[in-house]
Amino acid sequence: MKATAAVVLFLLAAALAQAPAPATMAVPAGIAAWPVAGASFALSYEGTAKPSFNTVRIDPRSFAAYVKTGAFPAGTVLALEVRAARTEVAPAKGGETEGAVLSTSLHVKDERAGPGTWTFYTYQPGAARATAVPRTRSCYTCHAQEAQQDTAFTQFYPSLTEARAR
Ligand code: HEC
Repeated sequence: MKATAAVVLFLLAAALAQAPAPATMAVPAGIAAWPVAGASFALSYEGTAKPSFNTVRIDPRSFAAYVKTGAFPAGTVLALEVRAARTEVAPAKGGETEGAVLSTSLHVKDERAGPGTWTFYTYQPGAARATAVPRTRSCYTCHAQEAQQDTAFTQFYPSLTEARAR
């Protein structure tokens, strides 16, 4: 009996010691149809070698709330799509146009780490689910220190902030 209890305790401890699986969320449907909060070209903040087009979209419900209140409601989803730049595609004689999707990520005010907190998620383009980025990653420190509002880079989102002003 004692031995059985010991085995059970051992198994329990082993199970508890295992790192919890990273949180995941369903990638929202129809992100392509969401309002654009802002776009940037060749913005380099992680030593990216090649210039890219970055587009940030916001879910329509939170866009409407932001325009009304100037704040991101709980549940806000901001979606970042990074695309390669293509040079001088005909008939253009210069300049760059959008190419293939290089990466997709979400910034979600899901309050997983307490009231008002946001979590980053990354996913493969076209994937059904996104995986949470560990809180130890630099995503969280840069956004906490440099982003203008609520860990989101509203200083680069005039399409969003000017909609508020109108
Ligand atoms: C050194 C600073 C820095 C780091 C590190 C960083 N970001 Fe960002 N992030 C930015 C800037 C600047 C923007 C503004 C939009 C852009 O990229 O065009 C941004 C925008 C975003 C957005 C759009 C929503 C928002 O919050 O403004 C997402 C999503 C995002 N980053 C995800 C990530 C993820 C995931 C990581 C980590 C793997 C990461 N970022 C690391 C600076 C950073």
